[in-house]
Amino acid sequence: MNYKGQRALVTGASSGIGAVFARELARRGADLVLVARSADKLAALADELSASFGVAADVAVADLAAPSAADGLAADLRSRDLQIDILVNNAGFGLFAQLDQADAAVLADMIRVNVAALVDLTRLYLPGMLDRDRGAVINVASTAAFQPVPYMAVYGATKAFVLSFTEALWAETRGTGVRVTAICPGSTETSFFDIAGENAQVGQRIPPQRVVHAALRAVDRRASTTVTGGAGNWLLTNAPRLAPRQFVARMAARTMRPAKSREHVSQKRGQHTGLQASPENTKQALRD
Ligand SMILES: NC(=O)c1ccc[n+]([C@@H]2O[C@H](COP(=O)([O-])OP(=O)(O)OC[C@H]3O[C@@H](n4cnc5c(N)ncnc54)[C@H](OP(=O)(O)O)[C@@H]3O)[C@@H](O)[C@H]2O)c1
Repeated sequence: MNYKGQRALVTGASSGIGAVFARELARRGADLVLVARSADKLAALADELSASFGVAADVAVADLAAPSAADGLAADLRSRDLQIDILVNNAGFGLFAQLDQADAAVLADMIRVNVAALVDLTRLYLPGMLDRDRGAVINVASTAAFQPVPYMAVYGATKAFVLSFTEALWAETRGTGVRVTAICPGSTETSFFDIAGENAQVGQRIPPQRVVHAALRAVDRRASTTVTGGAGNWLLTNAPRLAPRQFVARMAARTMRPAKSREHVSQKRGQHTGLQASPENTKQALRD
């Protein structure tokens, strides 16, 4: 895809995968609108990218967890006469916690940022792209989209939404000049784990540059979806298709369950079955 002279809006551009998206798009000649809450980081990145690559880089500070955040952002950009040709819906966060112990307000914010803002921005900017018969929507899902994710139940569900939504739009827009792609990274070396918690990591982390290069290659070949991170992630995301759903959920729980909780579960099962928690019984509980 030719990015020269196109304007890309990147949400979550203040760090991690979003910041790398911004840099790679600037390198390819795209002008930018950088969106996140961290005004200082966005301003520093905008200065750096316009100095290094000679592109226009605008900043729009927005909290995408706020109701009507997307409408407010679009109104702001309209007032500055900034047309959006490429939308990268990247902002998002996760939280590792059993649902009954998770903060309800954090979960509500997660749904607003990961899902509602992404849908709203797509609904706002896709019609203009279709009218012009060119453009791209790149939505950041996750390998978490392909199976339930116990202990990150809401996060996994938001990413399953993003994947389903994006694949549906890919089919709706086929035959037009607009590309729609979901990217599904596995564990990636970013600040994500500062908020989600270290237990959220599955497999080795890869650099965000690898994720973004794979994403832009997928956009080039008009792919609906790309899973980044090699053969392990390919297996992780394809194996569940063939297995019974309960089996997949139990395997996912076994992978994600933190050590402390494993003990708790095995003790509880001990109470129910008359078994005492012991390494052998714990293993049995995990096999159940
Ligand atoms: N890292 C991984 O292992 C991994 C794996 C699969 C998928 N992903 C997905 O990749 C995307 C980017 O995450 P990352 O790994 O790059 O993590 P990150 O470094 O923590 O970046 C998250 C970005 O989202 C922005 N953001 C968070 N809440 C926001 C809000 N309320 N309003 C506006 N912006 C907000 C943050 O900016 P501010 O804090 O400045 O607002 C930041 O720029 C997310 O959708 C994540 O789910 C990550």
